[in-house]
Amino acid sequence: MTTGTPKSIADWKRIAIVQGDITRQDVDAIVNAANESLLGGGGVDGAIHRAAGPQLLEECRKLGGAQTGQAKITQGYHLLARWVIHTVGPVWRGGQFHEEELLAKCYRSSLALAVQHSVRTIAFPAISTGVYAFPLDRATHIAITEVKDFLAQNASIEQVRFVCFSAAAYRCYLDTLSQTNK
Ligand code: APR
Repeated sequence: MTTGTPKSIADWKRIAIVQGDITRQDVDAIVNAANESLLGGGGVDGAIHRAAGPQLLEECRKLGGAQTGQAKITQGYHLLARWVIHTVGPVWRGGQFHEEELLAKCYRSSLALAVQHSVRTIAFPAISTGVYAFPLDRATHIAITEVKDFLAQNASIEQVRFVCFSAAAYRCYLDTLSQTNK
């Protein structure tokens, strides 16, 4: 891994889109789409806890939960990633309850926490687009917009990797990224 990211690299070149399992990503930190208890669940939350092992839940118990839009960090334990950043996405309730701003806050909070912990490479799942039913296209636009804005202000993050579990999400991220680079 290079020691520093030359400013000359275009911000979007520091964004990678992959289809796969976030628990298998060899990055400094992976982001978990958690719930307010931070005590595990299904979906990507369940997968991360299964892969990290029981010590993750033990540490999460000490965090005292989190509000929607907030992010908290733990060790990664048996994961390849050193850190897990747990963020709580909004439940989609039609778009009239500040869901879009809260989802944007998840990305900003997670990235700010990553910089505080000298994280250089970070992987995100498609936060809120599963059980929380946030429309995939709108969530993807928010994710890519927020990450590009953050990367433009923070050279310390070398790569943000969007890990799409489904082919549909993968296609949506690729299309959205290419549209924002026009
Ligand atoms: N790797 C990457 N992405 C994954 C994985 C995985 N192993 N497993 C699921 N996903 C994807 C889903 O396909 C979806 O696109 O993560 C995205 C988010 O879906 P959820 O995991 O359902 O998360 P979310 O919609 O934010 O709902 C959060 O679900 O699991 C519970 O405890 C969690 O209550 C919280 C709620």
